[in-house]
Amino acid sequence: MKVRALIPLEDTVKILDQTRLPKEMIYNEYGDYRDIVASIKKLEIRGAPAIGIAGAYALAIAARADVDTDVEHFKRVLTDVASEIKDARPTAANLAWAVNRVLNVAHEYQGDNKAEFAIHLWDEAGAILKEDEELCNAIGRHGEELIKDGDTILTHCNAGILATGGMGTALAVIYAAHERGKRIRVYADETRPLLQGARLTAWELQQAGIEVVLNVDSASGILMRQGRISCVILGADRIAQNGDIANKIGTYNVAVLARHHRIPFYVAAPYSTFDRSLETGDDIPIEERSPEEVVNWGGIRIAPEGVDVYSPAFDITPHELISAYITDKGVLPGGRDD
Ligand code: MRU
Repeated sequence: MKVRALIPLEDTVKILDQTRLPKEMIYNEYGDYRDIVASIKKLEIRGAPAIGIAGAYALAIAARADVDTDVEHFKRVLTDVASEIKDARPTAANLAWAVNRVLNVAHEYQGDNKAEFAIHLWDEAGAILKEDEELCNAIGRHGEELIKDGDTILTHCNAGILATGGMGTALAVIYAAHERGKRIRVYADETRPLLQGARLTAWELQQAGIEVVLNVDSASGILMRQGRISCVILGADRIAQNGDIANKIGTYNVAVLARHHRIPFYVAAPYSTFDRSLETGDDIPIEERSPEEVVNWGGIRIAPEGVDVYSPAFDITPHELISAYITDKGVLPGGRDD
């Protein structure tokens, strides 16, 4: 079976518990929307497109409850449920985008057949999942043209199969280039504090037979200085109207370094990550995570008791540090002037 972040079953979903990777591959089956919300919060499922898909299914699952309730009443209930799902993680545009898409189907439904109503919502969640797979393929196709045989690519966090409904965004570019026979080496930032790079990206690329080297986040500077990086490719959680992006904490540092070393800095994302309602990156809400994720390492306390912690999960990279956006529609120029 192919690795997938989420697999829909008849009226439940299976979510790959990414907190347990790479040690064990365990899928949890959920048939209650509240469990999916908890799963998103815990990062069992993570990555902007993947949490969008999970959120869409969560709402569709909620629509299956209370078979006897009338449809109009249920539309109001679902509006509240949708808000609860969207609040699970605030930064990624894809979560609210996908949940709203399913909610719109609910509001547009004109009949009074509750079972039929629920099926429409389920089908919309399925359409979002299927579409995301196609968006990933398109990103891979367009981005692959930027990659040369022998390139070494730095990536941050995980923007691959585990973060989407398909081949990923940043990693889709790498998979597509690999498939075309280009020899590629990937440097994966480990991505403190939750180690998506070490646990997920390194694992995913190994599974695909792509050469991957794991480095601590703070090594990206020396890697660039030593001339070991041809380009940076990573994903995004939200892209504002002016092209500023939110992505995993540490992305901004990498972007500044890449600019200093004149190394192309590419952001790969589908249209669902673009948020035209926000003018600049300063308007993007940044999720803050629990201090526990920083003061403990592998279950062992590594910081003194009582220490203050600041733990933003994402940062903003301004558009002037971005060379190009690799999207499902093609490669769009960024704001960097070199
Ligand atoms: O906290 P996470 O693991 O959900 O953060 C994920 C990222 O920052 C990814 O780079 C982003 O969502 C793009 S995934 C295609």
